[in-house]
Parts: sequence; C-alpha cells; structure tokens
Amino acid sequence: MSNFYYFLCNDGSESFLKEEIKCFYPELSFAYSTKGFVTFKLNRPLRNKLEVTFARHFGEYLDRGLEHVMHKEFQNIVGKSIFYNLDGDIYKSENLQVGDEVFELIKLNEEAVYLGKFKVENERDKLIGGFQSMDIPSEAPSRAYLKIIQGAKVAGIDFKSGQNAIEIGSSPGGATYALLSKGLNVIGVDPGKMDSICLENKNFQHHGVSIQDFKVDKINQPIDWFLVDMNLAPEATIRECEKILAAIKTTMKGGFITLKMTKQSLVSKLPFYRKLLERLGFDVILTTQLPSHKQEFLMYVRSR
Ligand SMILES: C[S@@+](CC[C@H](N)C(=O)[O-])C[C@H]1O[C@@H](n2cnc3c(N)ncnc32)[C@H](O)[C@@H]1O
Repeated sequence: MSNFYYFLCNDGSESFLKEEIKCFYPELSFAYSTKGFVTFKLNRPLRNKLEVTFARHFGEYLDRGLEHVMHKEFQNIVGKSIFYNLDGDIYKSENLQVGDEVFELIKLNEEAVYLGKFKVENERDKLIGGFQSMDIPSEAPSRAYLKIIQGAKVAGIDFKSGQNAIEIGSSPGGATYALLSKGLNVIGVDPGKMDSICLENKNFQHHGVSIQDFKVDKINQPIDWFLVDMNLAPEATIRECEKILAAIKTTMKGGFITLKMTKQSLVSKLPFYRKLLERLGFDVILTTQLPSHKQEFLMYVRSR
C-alpha cells in the first residue's frame, strides 16, 4: 500500500479538491500542492474507494526525484508506462484499456519528477493525466463547445447523427453547435440569445423562455440526450430540471448535468446532489471536472 496519493486537477480547483478530500476521505491529510497537482498522505486504510470529482486523474505515489534519476528507475519498469508533464505535454504514451495497471512519470519540473501508478477503471482514466487537448472551432459560439465534446469522451459516448437532444441553458450555443455539427436535432431552452450559426440550422428549435416557463409538451421528439448548463445553484438546477427529466426518462440514453460550484462550501453537498438525481430514478455514472471546466463539474447520469 502506498503512503501518498497524488491528484491532477484544473488550475484554480486545488482548494475545491482539498475540501472534497477533507469532507469525504478523512484518512488522507494534505501534504503538498502546486498549480494543478496536489498530494495527500494516507494515515490509515481508505474506507471507501477514491472517486474524486475535483480531480481529473489520481494515482498512488511510488517515488520522486531528479529527472535523470527517475528515468533510470522508469526504464526498469515492466508493463504499461507513460510520461508527461503538468502542461499536458506527453513524452511517452500507451493505448490504455480498462483493467490496465499503469506506471507513470509526471514531470513537475527538472528537480521534481514523480513516479506513480494507477489502475484504468473507466474511460476517463484512459486519458493521460485526464488531459484532453483539443481546439474550439473558430465559429463555435462559446467554450461550452468543449464541455460537451470532453464530457462525451469521459462518459465513453458517441453521438450519432439523427439523434435528438435537449439543452437547458443553451445560449449562446457552444454545446448546441457541437451537437448540430454531429448531425443531431437539438431543442434549446434559454431566454438568452442563440448564435445565428445555431438559429440558421434547420435541426435546431429554440424556446426563448426560462426553464420555469417552459412546458414539457413542447418536446416534440423522443429525447436521447439531456444537457443542462444554467448559471443557477446546483440544487436549483436539478430541481428546475425535474419536470424535463421525468418527461424524457424512458427514451433518454444519458444526461450531461453541469453544476456550478460558486463557493467551496458547496463541495460538502456532493452526495446530496447525487441523491437528488438517484431519487428521480437516475444512476450517477460519473462526476468529474473536465479540462474545460472552471468553477463547475459534470454529473453524467443514465436512466435506471
Ligand atoms: C453557461 S451559460 C450556457 C452556455 C451554453 N450551454 C453554451 O453551450 O453556450 C448559462 C446559461 O444559462 C441560462 N439560464 C440561466 N437561468 C436560466 C433559467 N432559469 N432557464 C433557462 N436558462 C437559464 C443563461 O441565460 C445562460 O445563457
């Protein structure tokens, strides 16, 4: 058993991650932090499996040292091994599969290179360091384009042309545009303006009202994918979406629920947000921050 765990998180999410560990994993105590990288000491065996929202990736610490020293150790490793730095530059990669035990070298700087290991348990773990380097097309209306593309990747989803989606909080249209580009039909609900690139697409319907004023009988197609990304508090977001979720539950393949964490104290409510969705009949498959997230995270849910 390793004595330390390290976590890779988005720049600026270190305090959320520390709060999450403090609330739910009292066996771990904070050890060290730098931008996007936080370590914790294990004081006694973990009671629960680590499933951390405010980290993109984590592993068990094995050793740390100067780059050339760690490389020597790394060369003797048998099995899959990867090497990258905290900016997401990948020096050695492997095709990772669920079930793989992987060794990794993470370069913080020349003097501090960490050697660790982790097990690939889901689609997210296949992404080296949890990074997803991709560009936003220049015509995309917002950075939320990346949120749905990266969300689909960690959830292991392939959107198919002809499928139907509804997005609550769709303006100005980054995520909607991403789905329209893949040939989906999209209903957007938002009192805010949608970008013309969405409005001019015949597969898009805009309802320019708030979710509170939206009537579910306006949903005129069986919905495969549900998206919500409103700037409301997490509990309000979930509660306002209940009527939609109830209406589309039988056809829905998956739901991408973006919850805004406006303050650190909301971290302690993560199990409560999960419960609210479970009570509505959904399984919470994954909660994570995506590389494109700021003070927010994704809950990916499926109908039970
Ligand atoms: C972060 S933006 C959404 C970005 C969008 N998903 C995209 O892909 O470009 C949040 C949106 O939530 C919308 N919003 C806030 N409260 C809402 C409500 N009660 N009903 C519907 N939309 C709401 C805002 O108008 C705003 O456009």
